[in-house]
Amino acid sequence: MIEIENLRKSYAGSPVVDVPALNMPQGGVTAIIGPNGAGKSTLLSLIGRLETPGGGGVFLDGENVRSFRSTDLAKRLAMLKQDNSLTARLTVADLVAFGRFPHCNGRPTDRDRAKVSEALELVRMTELKDRFLDELSGGQRQRAFIAMVLAQDTEYALFDEPLNSLDISHAVAVMRLLHSVARTMGKTIVVVLHDLNFVARYADHVIAMKAGRVVEIAPASHAIREDLLKQLYDTDVAVSTRDGRTFVDVYG
Ligand SMILES: Nc1ncnc2c1ncn2[C@@H]1O[C@H](COP(=O)(O)OP(=O)(O)O)[C@@H](O)[C@H]1O
Ligand SMILES: [Mg+2]
Repeated sequence: MIEIENLRKSYAGSPVVDVPALNMPQGGVTAIIGPNGAGKSTLLSLIGRLETPGGGGVFLDGENVRSFRSTDLAKRLAMLKQDNSLTARLTVADLVAFGRFPHCNGRPTDRDRAKVSEALELVRMTELKDRFLDELSGGQRQRAFIAMVLAQDTEYALFDEPLNSLDISHAVAVMRLLHSVARTMGKTIVVVLHDLNFVARYADHVIAMKAGRVVEIAPASHAIREDLLKQLYDTDVAVSTRDGRTFVDVYG
């Protein structure tokens, strides 16, 4: 269970995250939604200990994430950042193997190699495993990074806008994959998403943020409502159902 208590973060005196109390839903896919600048990435980075809180803390199964040894945290929680830039010239397989580092400390066993192959297969990158990252399209590179997180094989996995640069077919494939990984392996997946139709279709829970605060946490079927979305984005939207599925239309 990921629990948040009195979590605050400011930049230059301006609060960007202010969450008095939050229990992240355990299991399934939780989507974090909200406008640009709402604090979604900062919240994820605080959970993944990539940022230091100004106050309060994040607790993983009762223990403050700041008190974990790095490798112990990396065995339990993995994170894909919003902007992945790597200067080193790596192949896809090298990158994905990094996900096993906390488990094998640089000496991969057959099990580590199997986890790398499995992750490559899951994102359909096996054929491209020997390509260098700078020889890939943006979407292929994004899938390689997703595979690295999956290879880490943690109970908790956080993804910040993982659908960036993916075409609709790969975006659907990634969302189905995250959904099935959560379902079949009992993992807790937290994902920042902008496409509200994907949220409606693939998320179990929604955390809605605006101006650094959590304005709602609810099952996705309840959160995808016109009043909440209008409040979040200051934009006219229409929510409808067809064949038992929820759709969000945006009026520009
Ligand atoms: N390193 C930083 N230094 C200063 N301000 C930052 C930094 N990172 C984020 N911010 C600011 O914090 C706010 C929240 O940013 P972010 O968490 O990235 O929002 P989101 O992911 O919801 O778009 C924004 O106003 C952003 O400009
Ligand atoms: Mg962000």
